[in-house]
Amino acid sequence: MPKEISFKKELIGNFGYPVWDNPTEAMVEAAFAHHGMNYRYVTTEVPPENLRAAVAGLRAMGYKGFNCTIPHKVAIIDHLDGLGESASLIEAVNCVVERDGKYIGENTDGKGFLQSLREVIDPEGKKVLIFGAGGAARAVSVELALQGVEKITIVNRSTHRGEGLVDLLQRKTAVQVELKSWEGNYPIPAETEIIINCTSIGLSPQVVRVPVDKKTLLTHMVVCDLIVNPPKTPFLQEAAECGCRILDGIGMLVNQGRIGIKYWSGVDVDGSVMRRKIEEIYSTAS
Ligand SMILES: NC(=O)c1ccc[n+]([C@@H]2O[C@H](COP(=O)([O-])OP(=O)(O)OC[C@H]3O[C@@H](n4cnc5c(N)ncnc54)[C@H](OP(=O)(O)O)[C@@H]3O)[C@@H](O)[C@H]2O)c1
Repeated sequence: MPKEISFKKELIGNFGYPVWDNPTEAMVEAAFAHHGMNYRYVTTEVPPENLRAAVAGLRAMGYKGFNCTIPHKVAIIDHLDGLGESASLIEAVNCVVERDGKYIGENTDGKGFLQSLREVIDPEGKKVLIFGAGGAARAVSVELALQGVEKITIVNRSTHRGEGLVDLLQRKTAVQVELKSWEGNYPIPAETEIIINCTSIGLSPQVVRVPVDKKTLLTHMVVCDLIVNPPKTPFLQEAAECGCRILDGIGMLVNQGRIGIKYWSGVDVDGSVMRRKIEEIYSTAS
């Protein structure tokens, strides 16, 4: 009797608007192919007014889950059946997982960053300075606070968003937190041990430097940038010239992708395959 062949694949989506420049599909599909997984990951442009219908469509078609990115990370919550712990603390979702017929929102951004940071330094008890107060800064700072960093300084251009993040950290975590305004080249206090750029300053095509006072970047500091394109931002180049240890944004992207795949399929995939794919994409792009 001939062996039966199934042509059906498990489906995972990715919603954004715009989403054409999001490399996650290439990275995740590289992992699926490497591990011979019967999955497909499909990137779809979903405008805000179609979000409800898009989620209903995925439910009808039996998708195992999906990622969502700007501008849907908060709005998606109204269309889900529940939230995991990180998403509930961060009040934003970037990964949705089907569990027992329910769509549950998770946030894997902060966890992905943390896994990447741990390869360079243990954040527990450290003094951290974060540039930015948007979605990525929320995810990263909440996760760092939960990991027991001693102090977080938020430096942000707009006071309003900065205050919102400080309020969130004070309400939901026990970390010591302060907000600083940002004018000109920011002088980094010498006590700082970890610096993280969570702004979009330096993102291609505006590949510019983060305004910091370069002479205050000291050799004991670990300097991180969440930006993936280009992986070696002017901020990281400057920090490396000053003798700091540096961490690019690819590790975070890969790790949040690995966590998502584990949630959807139960499979622990090889991150090096995903990193190679992202490096290949941005080395040809530059
Ligand atoms: N590696 C990864 O896996 C990963 C994951 C998520 C995000 N990211 C990257 O992280 C960055 C931020 O993403 P997000 O989702 O947090 O974006 P977002 O919610 O739009 O927040 C953007 C932040 O950047 C600040 N900003 C933007 N332009 C600025 C400028 N010219 N001067 C000073 N501050 C400026 C904003 O300050 P205001 O409040 O003053 O507007 C805000 O704090 C993006 O570049 C994204 O690509 C990487």
